[in-house]
Amino acid sequence: MAQPDVTTLILGAGAAGMMCAAHAGAGVIVIDHARAPGEKIRISGGGRCNFTNLHAAPENFLSENPHFCKSALARYTQWDFLDLVARHRIPWHEKTLGQLFCDRSAKDIIAMLRAEMAAAELWLETSVDEIGHDGTRFRARLTREGRPVTVTARHLVLATGGKSIPKMGATGLAYDIARQFGHGLTETRPALVPLTFDEAQKAVFAGLAGTAVDTRIACNGTAFDEAMLFTHRGLSGPAVLQVSSYWREGDALHVRLRPDLDLYAQLRARRTEAGAKAVTTALAEILPKKLAQHLAAAWGLQGTLADQSDAALRALADRLADWTLTPTSSEGYRTAEVTLGGVATDRVSSRTMESALVPGLFVIGEALDVTGWLGGYNFQWAWSSAVAAGRAI
Ligand code: FDA
Repeated sequence: MAQPDVTTLILGAGAAGMMCAAHAGAGVIVIDHARAPGEKIRISGGGRCNFTNLHAAPENFLSENPHFCKSALARYTQWDFLDLVARHRIPWHEKTLGQLFCDRSAKDIIAMLRAEMAAAELWLETSVDEIGHDGTRFRARLTREGRPVTVTARHLVLATGGKSIPKMGATGLAYDIARQFGHGLTETRPALVPLTFDEAQKAVFAGLAGTAVDTRIACNGTAFDEAMLFTHRGLSGPAVLQVSSYWREGDALHVRLRPDLDLYAQLRARRTEAGAKAVTTALAEILPKKLAQHLAAAWGLQGTLADQSDAALRALADRLADWTLTPTSSEGYRTAEVTLGGVATDRVSSRTMESALVPGLFVIGEALDVTGWLGGYNFQWAWSSAVAAGRAI
């Protein structure tokens, strides 16, 4: 079999790998062990791909070095990506909070990237057996559709993502190769992931499964105003996924129910208007009925509104504003949207994503220790870091 010698070998045909191929010039091979490129794009955003966020800014990313993402995000922005989407005439809409989705299907984004990287060769069903470096060129021993093949390349781009959803082919390959070349890793954890609870709490939540409520959830100094969803396994919904990136074992979540309302004022107003109303009934006008009934039972709320003193209503409002829940764990990589942590950024150029240890080695996308919030931020990081590397190549 031929032993191609190319300028650039990109490992991973996901969001970052394809975008990098589109910007890396001539002589590019992109390999992936999957049967199709961009599989996570295909399933993202419920099949419509939340491809960027209008408000994307460095503050929306977690990393041991919060400054690292700034340069790449500034040099290839959400507006640049939107221009690309417009050039390909892909219809899109803003759903909420600056989150942009395809009108039709995430497949539009994959087709766009395929067209943009048309000059590159794409090898699917190709696995990596060994990577070496002789001081000037990388040497990759691969298995392509069952046959061994060796590729040599001046540049090697690690774009194989993180560990989330192993069923879809996620592996720790980028971490292993980065480590082989002397790079450190920061602790990796499932992030943007539902949180789970002990059996007693789980049974309670199972009774509320399917109920969603507007919340502000705070953990370790960061809070998100979004919906919380009760499930048979614990808690999910955007507010919980967001805060999961900040949560560590043993930490409590501080849940403010209905942060849009002054709950004390609401309860007092209802007492004035309809004092004969049961407290539980009044609560069910503010919260989903099932949740109101659960809290009333759990907190022993009894009697009518008229029975409640100002102090009692204040205490109830305070409880609703700081419902403390302590998860025991998360659903793990099986359902996590992203991996927190990854290849440490301390030996990687923030302008080019090139290794400071091995010239010609690049790390992009989720494989790096840069993790976005929920809402299109992770794809924006994939695009921005990929373009930074592609331009440098
Ligand atoms: P990505 O995972 O996209 O690509 C890595 C590629 O490498 C894959 O094609 C994989 O097959 C390949 N690979 C891995 N190991 C390999 C190996 N050993 N050998 C060969 N190939 C290998 N983000 C967002 O901004 N908006 C959204 O709507 C969503 N929605 C969403 C839904 C779900 C269900 C998930 C799991 C994730 C999201 N995300 C998201 C996150 C987003 O998908 C993710 O951050 C990016 O895809 C990361 O892009 P990368 O290119 O870095 O990795």
